[in-house]
Amino acid sequence: MNHIISPLDLSVEELDKLLDLANDIERHPEKYAHACEGKRLASLFYEPSTRTRLSFEAAMMNLGGKVLGFSDQDSSSATKGESVADTIRVVSCYADIAAIRHPKEGAALVASMASQIPVINAGDGGHQHPTQTLTDLLTIRSMKGRLDNITIGLCGDLRFGRTVHSLIEALVRYDNVHFILISPDELRVPSYIRDGVLQKENVSYKEVVRLEEALPDLDLLYMTRVQRERFFNENDYVRMKDFYILDAEKMKLAGPDMLVLHPLPRVNEISVEVDNDPRAAYFKQARYGVYVRMALILTLLEIA
Ligand code: CP
Repeated sequence: MNHIISPLDLSVEELDKLLDLANDIERHPEKYAHACEGKRLASLFYEPSTRTRLSFEAAMMNLGGKVLGFSDQDSSSATKGESVADTIRVVSCYADIAAIRHPKEGAALVASMASQIPVINAGDGGHQHPTQTLTDLLTIRSMKGRLDNITIGLCGDLRFGRTVHSLIEALVRYDNVHFILISPDELRVPSYIRDGVLQKENVSYKEVVRLEEALPDLDLLYMTRVQRERFFNENDYVRMKDFYILDAEKMKLAGPDMLVLHPLPRVNEISVEVDNDPRAAYFKQARYGVYVRMALILTLLEIA
């Protein structure tokens, strides 16, 4: 049984194949319109989501399949105390594949161990978000033409931002990727990423506080919001939330080909005036999320 719990569950070769398939789906959606007829996706969202849930659901519908599930744990039997393991055992009787988002780190792994169907981690607490990473990689490869030989700045809440953790783990496998980690001291990447991934893999990286200092050197800027829901104390969130605001003035410091990515939702960290800059790629990135999730469903169901 294949599950996607971490971006490392796919080898670089498998990843390339998946991204090729996603590009083919983008070009020829009609070829795939009936590929999942008779199949069902269970969409199990214990935490709020717009993009991940709706793009998974759109992906399955685009493939001719059906969707069932819940978008709020209060409308599931989790409120009665049912465990994730028991839930997925039951859902395995109703669906062919499941996407699960949960506030607890490790919940998707626990689900996969009890499941009879492929499980996809759609975000587990502040830990990992592998399908956002697939979306990010597809966006970068499609728009830049490569995943190697890049300097990427990751900016904002690098401590709790699970998309950042997954993206770093995925990108260290490519040649000559240089990371600039831009955050306030309190929101630096956790040590399991800094020591356990960047240093262990002997990858080139530096940590800076000022966004202005990093901007001129970047091929890609990956902005993130401060993750309010992961803070223990509202005052700390309020102090941090507007630490970085990318605006038209700051964009003048960046090169003409630098792309701005953001997993979204955006709060204040990218001013709306940047949206019309041709380097702003974040809404296109959200569209790529559907193609890559279609490719992932086809791959895990062994249809493609
Ligand atoms: N990027 C992302 O995970 O967005 P949602 O929280 O809306 O799913």
